[in-house]
Amino acid sequence: MRYPLEPDHEDMQRLAQVVVDRAVAFVASLADHPASLAGVSEEAVLNLQRRLLQPPPEQPEDLGGILDRVEEASQAAVETAGPSYLAYIPGGGLFAGALADFYARATNRYVGMAATAPGLVALEWSVVRWLADIVGMPAQGGGVLFSGGSIANFAAVVAARERLGETFADGTVYLTEEAHQSVGKAVHLAGLPMEALRVVPCGRDLRMDPDALAEMVARDRRAGRRPFLVVAAAGTTNTGVVDPLPAVADVAAREGLWFHVDAAYGGFFMLTERGRAALQGIERADSVTLDPHKSLFAPYGTGALVVRDLGALRAAHAVSGHYLQDLGEQEVPDFADLGPELTRELRGLRVWLPLHLYGVAAFRDALNEKLDLARHAYERLLAEPSLDLPWAPSLSIVALRVRANDQDTADALTRDVLERVNAGRRVFLSSTVVEGRFTLRLAILAHRSHQDRVDEAVDAIIAAARAVTAV
Ligand SMILES: Cc1ncc(COP(=O)(O)O)c(C=O)c1O
Repeated sequence: MRYPLEPDHEDMQRLAQVVVDRAVAFVASLADHPASLAGVSEEAVLNLQRRLLQPPPEQPEDLGGILDRVEEASQAAVETAGPSYLAYIPGGGLFAGALADFYARATNRYVGMAATAPGLVALEWSVVRWLADIVGMPAQGGGVLFSGGSIANFAAVVAARERLGETFADGTVYLTEEAHQSVGKAVHLAGLPMEALRVVPCGRDLRMDPDALAEMVARDRRAGRRPFLVVAAAGTTNTGVVDPLPAVADVAAREGLWFHVDAAYGGFFMLTERGRAALQGIERADSVTLDPHKSLFAPYGTGALVVRDLGALRAAHAVSGHYLQDLGEQEVPDFADLGPELTRELRGLRVWLPLHLYGVAAFRDALNEKLDLARHAYERLLAEPSLDLPWAPSLSIVALRVRANDQDTADALTRDVLERVNAGRRVFLSSTVVEGRFTLRLAILAHRSHQDRVDEAVDAIIAAARAVTAV
C-alpha cells in the first residue's frame, strides 16, 4: 500500500532539494529584484490574482510547476527580504531562520506544554530568558514568543488589566500620538472602551511629556477613573524616537501604573552601546515587547513579550482543562499559560539557531552598522538645502520633508519625492504623518541593506527633491 501523503526517504530528499534550490536562487538574487510594485499595472496584478485564485486539483501536480506559480506570485510584491526595503519597519528574514523553521516544521513538536517536549521548551525558554536579560529583567522574569509585536502588546495589556479585577470599564491607559496603532487596538481587544485611551502630549522632540502624564493621571483619579497602564515607545514606528523612559518609569512607580515599553522596533539595539544609552530606563519596565522579526532579522511571525513578574502573565492567561490532566509541572513554564495560544509552533528555533550559528557579536555588529548608516544618511540629507530634517535619528530611522513656503506645498512636494524615488524600483520608501505633516521615512534595518543601497536611496531622494523644487 502506498500512502501519497507519506513520501519515502528518496522522495523527501528530491522534493526538499527542489524547494531548497529555488529558495537559494531567490535569496541569492535579492539585490537585483525590483524594490516594489511601483509601475506594475493594476490589470496585471488582477490577472495574476485571478490565475492564482483557483481551488486545488483533485489529482496531483508536478512540484516544479507548482513552484513556478508560487514564484510568480512571490515576485509580484514589495521586496521585503532584500536590501532595497527601507520602508515601514524592515526585518529581512535570516536564511538560517528559514532553515530552522524547516526543521521545526518537519519535526512538528508540540511546545504549548512543557511536558510534551521539555528539551525543546527549555531551548525556546533560553531564548526568552536571553531577551529578558537584554532589557534588564530580573531573574524571575520571563515571557513568551508570539507571532509579532501586536500580539505581544495585546498580552501585555491583558496582563496589566488583570490587576483591575473582573470589571474594568473605568480603567485608563496612557500613550502618545506616536504609539503604534497595535497598542490602541490591544486596549480595544482587551475589552476596554476606546475612551479608556489617554493621549499624552509630546514635546517638539516627539517624546512623551512625563509631567503631562502625571497631571492626566491625577485628573483621571479625581474623576473616579482607575489609571492602570502607561505605554512608552522604545523606538516609535514613525521616527524611531524613544520616550523618556526613566521619567515615565518614575511616574508609573509613583502612581502604581503598569509600565509597558513597546520596543518592537528598537529593542534589539540594546545589544549595542548606543542603543543601551538611548533606551536607558527600559530595565524598569513591567513588560517589554520585542520583535525578533524586526531588529533581530528573524523571519516574519516572531515577536516576544517579556515581563518582570511571570506570575502576572500567568494570572491573566492560565486556564486548565481536564484533557490536559496528564501533563505535569516542569522546570520550565508551559507557554500555553502565558498567552492566548494552546497549540503553538516551535518559534524559538528560528531565533535560537541563528544566534548559535553566528554568535551574538554578528547581530551587534549588524545593528551598529544600521546606526552608522542612519547617521550617514542623515548627514548627507541634512546638507541638501531643499530638504528639512526636523529630528536627528534616535536609532535607525531618518525622517524628512521637502522645504517649501507653506505646509500644503511641502506636503505635496514630499509626496512627489516619495513617488519619484519609488518609481525607480531600486529602493522602496514609505511615508507617514507627523505633527499633521506629510513626512518621508528612510528606515534602515534590514540586515541586507548596506551603505551602497543606502547611498542609492539618498542620491535618489536628493535628485527627486531638487527636481520637484526646481519647477
Ligand atoms: C513600535 C511597534 N510596535 C508594534 C508593532 C506591531 O508589530 P507586528 O507588526 O509585529 O504585529 C510595530 C510594527 O511595525 C511597531 O513598529
